[in-house]
Amino acid sequence: MTDASVSTVAPTAPVFSPALSDEEGPRLAAELFREAFDAEPDGVWYAPGRVNVIGEHTDYNGGLALPIALPHRAFLALRRREDRTIRLVSPQTRDAVDVLDLDAIGPKGTPGEVRHWNAYVAGVAWALEQDGLGPLPGFDAALYSCVPLGGGLSSSAALECATAVALDEVAGLGLAGTPTEPDDAGRAHLVTACVRAENEVAGAPTGGMDQSASMRCAAGHALELDCRDGSTTQVPFDLAEAGLALLVIDTKAKHSLVDGQYGARRASCERSAELLGVGLLADVPASALPEALDRLAASGDADAEVLVRRTRHVVTEIDRTRRLVDLLQDGSPLAGAKLAEVGTLMNGSHDSLRDDYECTCPELDVAVDTARALGAHGARMTGGGFGGSAIALVDAGRVDEVARGIVAAYAEHGFNEPAFLDATPSAPAGRVA
Ligand code: GLA
Repeated sequence: MTDASVSTVAPTAPVFSPALSDEEGPRLAAELFREAFDAEPDGVWYAPGRVNVIGEHTDYNGGLALPIALPHRAFLALRRREDRTIRLVSPQTRDAVDVLDLDAIGPKGTPGEVRHWNAYVAGVAWALEQDGLGPLPGFDAALYSCVPLGGGLSSSAALECATAVALDEVAGLGLAGTPTEPDDAGRAHLVTACVRAENEVAGAPTGGMDQSASMRCAAGHALELDCRDGSTTQVPFDLAEAGLALLVIDTKAKHSLVDGQYGARRASCERSAELLGVGLLADVPASALPEALDRLAASGDADAEVLVRRTRHVVTEIDRTRRLVDLLQDGSPLAGAKLAEVGTLMNGSHDSLRDDYECTCPELDVAVDTARALGAHGARMTGGGFGGSAIALVDAGRVDEVARGIVAAYAEHGFNEPAFLDATPSAPAGRVA
């Protein structure tokens, strides 16, 4: 097909990825469990994916992030075993249950390496034991998730956190509390195990924002997360009340956190911090940025010019996040000049990620530019970037129009057809009642 013929194809209507309901998700996970293991699960646990409103690539720099939990969740039907065996099944592997030995699991690159999605489940059990919370029982588990895979919406963190709350209960760790009455300190503890599973067992050098969101968010709120000390504040974020919606655009552009690009950004930040003599880039206040950038430029480092741009992104992004949180917390309605300012901060975040952090891609930029042109108050990529998803803050009545415009723009560019999600701020990980 030539380019000219692509642009004449009438774009299809936007496809929204639905979130499984409180009834459907557990039913599908439990059915798969029964089919695979011929037994009843002890229960079904779930954990949400996330989008980050602002504060990107700040977590591993000790900065601020502001994620919300999605209504899209991973459901895990699980039954405790009396031995040390783990058996796992998902809709994709229903004909071949994976069998692992809890005593043999090890980090990536060791003989105990665990492959594919099993790493996110077995890795959490391994990390909890490494943390002194074992010995844990083995378990059988069936996964049914509606968090789009590879969409940059933390499908892996959702799986880790669903595993963590399930094991917390069946092994009697007593750390999580419930989604409505969470034990936040206990959840922070579980988050560290999930991050360890991701970093060491799955081998993705991520920073912990995703797992914190899945475990520690609250419905109707965004989570201000201070990644230096793990402290959090629930920030009211009732979009429906403000007549707004947060539209998620899953670009369907391939995204991976283990392909080296993410790790390269992280390494640049660590190098910058070292050259500046600080522990973390969050130690550089916005007021000291010009001087810090001059020092990096004059450092003689072979990558000095790159380090300048990476550092500029991180420090300005932390500042934008702080300002956006302050706006949301001032108690006034999210409208008028305040809404415009929130949008400007979101736009500034994307532009900085595109120009200074260089982690966007044509699909993300086209989604963002099109949403802005169609009247979004603000639009930006969300998550790690290099593909994945973007978000647009739009008037509730204009969601369909903006989504249609993006579908048309993608068709014109010859991109894969995007998918869309509604990002209502939802509940954190827990057990299905
Ligand atoms: C990914 C990582 C997070 C965070 C974001 C960027 O989602 O998993 O830890 O670094 O990218 O903000």
